[in-house]
Amino acid sequence: MKKRILTGITTTGTPHIGNYIGAIRPALEMAKENEESFFFLADYHSIIKNQDSNKIKQSVEDIALAWLSCGLDTKTTYFYRQSDVPEILELSWILNCVTAKGLMNRAHAYKAASSLNTNDADKGITMGLFSYPVLMAADILMFDSTHVPVGSDQIQHLEMTRDIAARFNHLYKPLLTLPDPIIADKEKIVLGLDGRKMSKSYENIIPLLDDEKKLRKSVMKIVTNSLEPGEPKDSKECTVFDLYKNFADEEKITEFQNYYDDGISWGEAKEMLFNTINNELKPIRSRYVELIKDKDYINDVLSDGSRKARSIAKQKIKEIREVIGITNIS
Ligand code: TRP
Repeated sequence: MKKRILTGITTTGTPHIGNYIGAIRPALEMAKENEESFFFLADYHSIIKNQDSNKIKQSVEDIALAWLSCGLDTKTTYFYRQSDVPEILELSWILNCVTAKGLMNRAHAYKAASSLNTNDADKGITMGLFSYPVLMAADILMFDSTHVPVGSDQIQHLEMTRDIAARFNHLYKPLLTLPDPIIADKEKIVLGLDGRKMSKSYENIIPLLDDEKKLRKSVMKIVTNSLEPGEPKDSKECTVFDLYKNFADEEKITEFQNYYDDGISWGEAKEMLFNTINNELKPIRSRYVELIKDKDYINDVLSDGSRKARSIAKQKIKEIREVIGITNIS
């Protein structure tokens, strides 16, 4: 069977270099090797936790621009907004009806939110948050995806997707394809400014599309220890070194290690990191500066992408509706 890769990014916040290293860069590399790839903006996922319409709008634009600036080829890939393919929501409801509530009770995102509550376990928890893995399953199963590149925090969602698909296939007909995850950050979680995982919820990100000046400023904010210049530095558990590794080849990494052993100052180390990141991001930034001038182009690309994706989704939902009995009276 043909490999079909699919991945989405939730449209909250600004695209950052964690998204780039963990999702965008590996997905685009895979797209070069695979016949079919689906990349989408998970905008219906974004309203689960964010009710600020302006922020959502801005983030959709930023994340679309990030994919395009990083070199996504819209001719050979399917690139679309989740909300432009309403069949996904239709499938989401159908899947809700075969998903055990007990399965959703175990979802990390829901458990994390409810564990913060003391008296009322359900305080602040919406049905959207609770059934979020079902919507994600619909994203994936709609297109018979075989491989889903995601961060390690999403493994459980992929397992749930397989459970839900298997349940549907058992109850009706084996129409749904069970996907495999591809874990992009298996060895390395991308660290943020404070040394925790880079994440919009920790506010420790380095934005992907900032100009050079702002990028340097972010890099200079990375928290280090207080060792003086001349004192040897440990490259283990060092955010500067970890980030550097994601942008450099073996030779450069060894060279950087030698500087650490020789007691490079944190200022110089950060300067080297900045230059290395900046070299890779320069062409991306210049495409971004061009693309942002042409909003019509971005809208055209997205509507073209959803048209292509919908033609597949429509056919699939037709088959699904037939096997569940939502069909013409005969
Ligand atoms: N939940 C994913 C995240 O937060 C984003 C996402 C939504 C996704 N639907 C998807 C990823 C389908 C892969 C496939 O990172």
